[in-house]
Amino acid sequence: LAHYVDFVSGKSKPLDLPFDFARIGRLALSACGTAYLAGLISKYWFERYARLPVDIDVASEFRYREMPLSANDAAFFISQSGETADTLASLRYCRQAGMKIGAVVNVRESTMARESDVVLPTLAGPEIGVASTKAFTCQLSVLAALAVRAGVARGTISPDEEKRLVRELSEAPRFATQVLELAEQIEGISRELSRHKDVLYLGRDTNFPLAMEGALKLKEISYI
Ligand code: F6R
Repeated sequence: LAHYVDFVSGKSKPLDLPFDFARIGRLALSACGTAYLAGLISKYWFERYARLPVDIDVASEFRYREMPLSANDAAFFISQSGETADTLASLRYCRQAGMKIGAVVNVRESTMARESDVVLPTLAGPEIGVASTKAFTCQLSVLAALAVRAGVARGTISPDEEKRLVRELSEAPRFATQVLELAEQIEGISRELSRHKDVLYLGRDTNFPLAMEGALKLKEISYI
């Protein structure tokens, strides 16, 4: 977070982007799996705070949908590894259309990073577990900061609103710590869940993609 926002001044840090958020008509997002769900959450943020229309597809569809693209627009591709084949193919498709490309990746030396106009690193450290966890929260952090930045650039959020959003972001690590302190209760819930064949995750608004991410995590880890 500190890479993208200044907690002292309460401002989002200026980014050296190859395009101006104020001049694009829409933003295309694409990714796979967990990274796609992080992108889906950020669609709500870009549209709510920056009034910027977002097109998002899971990359395995994006590359085949043949959507009309404009060289005046920008696209962000989100990927922990920076190597997922469908996401890379979608990136190349947008590149061919002349769009400006940003890579929200964790591996800075990855193919996606190399083939983008700008790399927006998630700085999560090496992801070792199969189920992406810290990569997801770091992708959300970067995308939230980008949405605030876009809102500032497009004049859709006031300086006070920017400060409020940055302050709320600064509280995220404290909330994460609180959740980690619930380990014992979570273990109890897991034991109870392990006896069930089906689990239903529900959520609205940004909690809708979050519910899908919760479901993805449980499926990957438990095969429930
Ligand atoms: C979920 C998971 C996968 C990846 C997906 C994309 O826990 O690990 O769903 O999110 O394969 O991978 P990256 O982000 O490397 O493009």
